Amino acid sequence: MRLFLFFAFMIYAGKRAHGCETVFTPPMVYVKFGGSASANCRTTCNNTDGIGWESSFGGTGLIEGLSTLDVNLSNVNDWMTAPKCYIAYSNGEQHIVPLPITIYKMPEKVFMPKPPTPLIADGEYHLLQCSVHDVAPVNRLHISWHKGDEIFYEQSFEGIDRRPANKSVETTVEIVAEDNGKKVWCEARLDLPAEQSPQPMKSELHVLTVYYKPNFTEPENETLENVVGAKISLNCTATGNPTPVYKWHFSEPTLEGMQEQNATGSIFTLDFRTPVVYKCVASNVAGERIKYFHLNKPEGNCNTRKALLGVFLTLGVVIIIIGGVFGTRSGSCAIPRTIYQPPPSSPKEI
Ligand SMILES: *[C@@H]1O[C@H](CO)[C@@H](O)[C@H](O)[C@H]1NC(C)=O
Ligand SMILES: *[C@@H]1O[C@H](CO)[C@@H](O)[C@H](O)[C@H]1NC(C)=O
Ligand SMILES: *[C@@H]1O[C@H](CO)[C@@H](O)[C@H](O)[C@H]1NC(C)=O
Ligand SMILES: *[C@@H]1O[C@H](CO)[C@@H](O)[C@H](O)[C@H]1NC(C)=O
Ligand SMILES: *[C@@H]1O[C@H](CO)[C@@H](O)[C@H](O)[C@H]1NC(C)=O
Repeated sequence: MRLFLFFAFMIYAGKRAHGCETVFTPPMVYVKFGGSASANCRTTCNNTDGIGWESSFGGTGLIEGLSTLDVNLSNVNDWMTAPKCYIAYSNGEQHIVPLPITIYKMPEKVFMPKPPTPLIADGEYHLLQCSVHDVAPVNRLHISWHKGDEIFYEQSFEGIDRRPANKSVETTVEIVAEDNGKKVWCEARLDLPAEQSPQPMKSELHVLTVYYKPNFTEPENETLENVVGAKISLNCTATGNPTPVYKWHFSEPTLEGMQEQNATGSIFTLDFRTPVVYKCVASNVAGERIKYFHLNKPEGNCNTRKALLGVFLTLGVVIIIIGGVFGTRSGSCAIPRTIYQPPPSSPKEI
């Protein structure tokens, strides 16, 4: 500290005395630990007796008659080294100014522990850690956390210690369904002039396994009107991780509440259609979603229906019975129309 104050004073004095300044080129020397660098020192005045460099990595001694001088620093392996330029002026004054120097070292290792597997996409935040080992100087260290193409957090550090240190930091990240299969990692870089900046160092990459609740690929509720024909497919296909399982229920006007249907696929095929509501529940460990299919009564011309029934009559007794149910004497169309009211208990969300 005392040394520092001394140098600070010298810089101050150096800039003030006779208006003479000590100028370094480059103004800040960046050198890799164990590497080499060079610098120039000069004064803005020419009433010098001599100039010299003092350094354990390549000093020069005082050289008389010069007002500018280069120094080559080789194998800089002392974190605390402070090369100094000294200038002797003809009036007997001496200025000693330390060279601004940044000695850097990329980390030995950047480490991110494997995130928990699987993660559930439930809007919760998850903690991710990153450890950077043996890096210097910390106030040039910059850590970024990546998920796929996105940087979701960045951190820099403060401090004046020149020596290598370890940094272990945590941040939170929100996991969504789309993150399934994406890679996460952290990256350490040193903030140095571009031409000198070493490649960032990455941690191991971890592939996320994200569980998310089913999401219907078709519109959520469907109303099917006037579907004439033998077969109707109700499509309840949903994406989800793990793959969803399906349960089907239906309600009929003659029955109370919802009846369970012995079907488990994502497609439910009806051979004959009555105006009912089908309900499909797609679920997995992450949650469930419910989709309703409203099958409405065909509209329009009862004569057409009667004609159709006539065709059916020829097909057999079963059809005759159905004809009896649907066709009335007055010629009106008496197919019951139902509007399904879902049971009071709302769909369960996990
Ligand atoms: C950094 O971590 C390594 C390994 O855990 C340890 O050996 C070393 O002493 C640590 N360095 C500092 C400056 O704490
Ligand atoms: C659910 O599906 C819709 C339409 O296919 C899509 O836009 C949306 O991003 C999906 N949501 C999730 C969480 O996968
Ligand atoms: C689907 O239908 C059910 C019951 O009719 C209703 O509660 C729900 O809000 C509907 N969902 C959408 C997305 O329309
Ligand atoms: C059901 O919907 C899915 C998603 O849109 C589609 O891939 C599939 O072919 C459909 N199946 C039928 C039988 O329509
Ligand atoms: C209904 O489901 C049970 C058990 O899942 C199965 O054993 C039976 O064969 C199914 N019945 C029909 C008619 O599909």
